[in-house]
Amino acid sequence: MNILYNETTRTFHLYNQEISYIMAVLPNEQMGQLYFGKKIRHREDFSHLLEMSSRPMTSYVFEGDRHFSLEHIKQEYGVYGATDYRHPAVEILQTNGSRLSDFRYQSHDITDGKPKLAGLPATYTEESNEAKTLTLHLADPVTGVRLQLLYTIFCRGGIIARSARLENRGPEIVHLTTAMSLCMDLPDCDYEWLQFSGAWSRERHLRVRRLEQGIQAVDSRRGNSSHEHNPFIILKRPTADEFQGEVIGFSLIYSGNFLAQAEVDTHNTTRVLLGIHPRGFDWKLEPGESFQTPEAVMVYSETGLNGMSQTFHRLYGKRLARGYWRDRVRPILNNNWEATYFDFTEDRLVEIAAKAKECGVELFVLDDGWFGSRSNDHAGLGDWTPNINRLPEGITGLAQRIEDLGLKFGLWFEPEMVNRDSDLYRAHPDWILQTPERSISHGRNQYVLDFSRGEIVDYIYGMMAKLLREAKISYIKWDMNRSITECYSASLPADRQGEVFHRYILGVYDLYERLNSEFPQVLFESCASGGGRFDPGMLYYAPQGWASDNSDAVERLKIQYGTSFCYPISSIGSHVSVTPNHQVFRNTPLHTRANVACFGTFGYELDLNKLTADEQQQVKAQISFMKEYRELLQFGTFYRLASPFEGNITCWMVVDETKTRAVIGWYRVLCEANQPYTRIRLKGLNPDFCYLDEETGASFYGDELMNVGLITSDGMSGEMAVDDRNYGDFDSRIYILKKV
Ligand code: DGJ
Repeated sequence: MNILYNETTRTFHLYNQEISYIMAVLPNEQMGQLYFGKKIRHREDFSHLLEMSSRPMTSYVFEGDRHFSLEHIKQEYGVYGATDYRHPAVEILQTNGSRLSDFRYQSHDITDGKPKLAGLPATYTEESNEAKTLTLHLADPVTGVRLQLLYTIFCRGGIIARSARLENRGPEIVHLTTAMSLCMDLPDCDYEWLQFSGAWSRERHLRVRRLEQGIQAVDSRRGNSSHEHNPFIILKRPTADEFQGEVIGFSLIYSGNFLAQAEVDTHNTTRVLLGIHPRGFDWKLEPGESFQTPEAVMVYSETGLNGMSQTFHRLYGKRLARGYWRDRVRPILNNNWEATYFDFTEDRLVEIAAKAKECGVELFVLDDGWFGSRSNDHAGLGDWTPNINRLPEGITGLAQRIEDLGLKFGLWFEPEMVNRDSDLYRAHPDWILQTPERSISHGRNQYVLDFSRGEIVDYIYGMMAKLLREAKISYIKWDMNRSITECYSASLPADRQGEVFHRYILGVYDLYERLNSEFPQVLFESCASGGGRFDPGMLYYAPQGWASDNSDAVERLKIQYGTSFCYPISSIGSHVSVTPNHQVFRNTPLHTRANVACFGTFGYELDLNKLTADEQQQVKAQISFMKEYRELLQFGTFYRLASPFEGNITCWMVVDETKTRAVIGWYRVLCEANQPYTRIRLKGLNPDFCYLDEETGASFYGDELMNVGLITSDGMSGEMAVDDRNYGDFDSRIYILKKV
């Protein structure tokens, strides 16, 4: 890995074994993009890669020259309106009403490692030789605004992490109305666009379409990254698939409003923009003030979608997630939400926990309803003191009883919210986000605290930290059950209202950061009505997230499969729940519910006392399987093998680093009579190793499993069945292969 600069040709070449990223200072002193893709040889001069042409109806930068038009040049951080008509990476409103700027190269630094981004989640290095960072310093001669563009290349993987920092060094106030994290101009548009969209309980469903001339985008303007879209898109060559071909993933490490957009012009070049959504964004920069954008990460892979995902998994699992839990297997938990909802007493909780302990569970989590006057979703949010009627000895007493059972104790919070029927709201009705003189909307009867205000974040921190100091709490589930409306902060002047959405999320990050530092061993799980804020920003503070409120095993196949394109298996919160399922009322076999949930953090969302003795035995076996294999399941190399978006069969697998152990999850939604023969070709094994399937006693060489395939046909059903397995609908199997 290295970053080379040639002073004569003014070109930069960032490269490692896999990729090259090349750019140059253009004749107008702005930065031009020359290449991003598979590694190419280094040359001192790459100016021949700069494509300029004379075209009719084009505006040109230099008088007498009919070649240099920014509209036809690939740039690093494009500006609209001075020969470029595409959507810009940056727009600055000045006191004279102009929105033009002209960021010219001044100098650069190349440093080992990677600098921190103040107040924001970002990837990091542990050793300085893991990455190198190029900082380009640019300046706009008219406003005096300085721009720093940061590029980090990691030594391993096709990764470039980017962000921008703007500083007002001029004499006048300016307003940033667009400040994207990444602008990437690609020379063609021969791509498919993949996005991960959905709704509550149907998050991150893969959608694919051909990239076309015009604009395609996904976004959120809800204040969270949202159930609807994820701040992650992929461009893949139409011929690329899961295992081969060129793919570029674009991911934003951010949890608020975002825009991910590809603009294909009519000459078939593509501009990708990724960053904070410009709509409603307006950040005032007084002289001397600066603004740091969130970080965006691009991953290039020539080994298809799986190759790209594995790079994201390694990066986000090991160099975005942090702290005590990053490398530790996750505790198997039992959460009481679907078991009791709001209807519980302390004894009832202890009863659930005791059975959980008997079955092998390690952590009991008390969900919503333990505080203030909360007995339904109309009251209590904001009052983070235990409800003594339900918990006579408070959280301290309950946590101790749970610990006495030999379990760890976890607790639910929704720190950003308040009900009107709460002591907090009665004391501070002006603490919520609301627009003056306008009616205010609610979501689930609750209102959003103005986390752009430091004193409110301080107050909530005080309440949470007090409990964490007093009681034995090992885990926190941090929920967020509504989107933001009427976004306006009473504490900011009119010309700073465009900052509220971003300041809000900075407040959330600040609270997380303070809790992470004071309580480093507490495991945080993020949640927003399930997967409404499942994004890389959250992963920095909470190494796992509740992927969806939908716990139906069949529905979960799509949710977890979609999530796996960017996020590591160790981050995917997934539990076994009861049947009929509470979201879709489907009956699935217990083994399938566990077989899906084990490709995640694993736990139970039910009262195990209510299962039959036989089912409890199955649960015990599931938990001991999980304990034995969770290291591999959560931290092994993950491959998607068959997609639930394409057919009746889903299959995925994990392999350990030494390729000596693999676990394969195979799922069939509907059973067919007299089924066709089926095989799944495995991946990532050593072709020369012989692997034993302990359950059947059969052994296969890696080359057989990867080329001939694992035979998954089960032939008979009904009276012809050869054993008593359930060959009906919603069947699944786990195959464990070990090197002989
Ligand atoms: C939404 C979460 O996703 C659920 O798991 C549960 O915690 C409820 N909120 C509690 O109100």
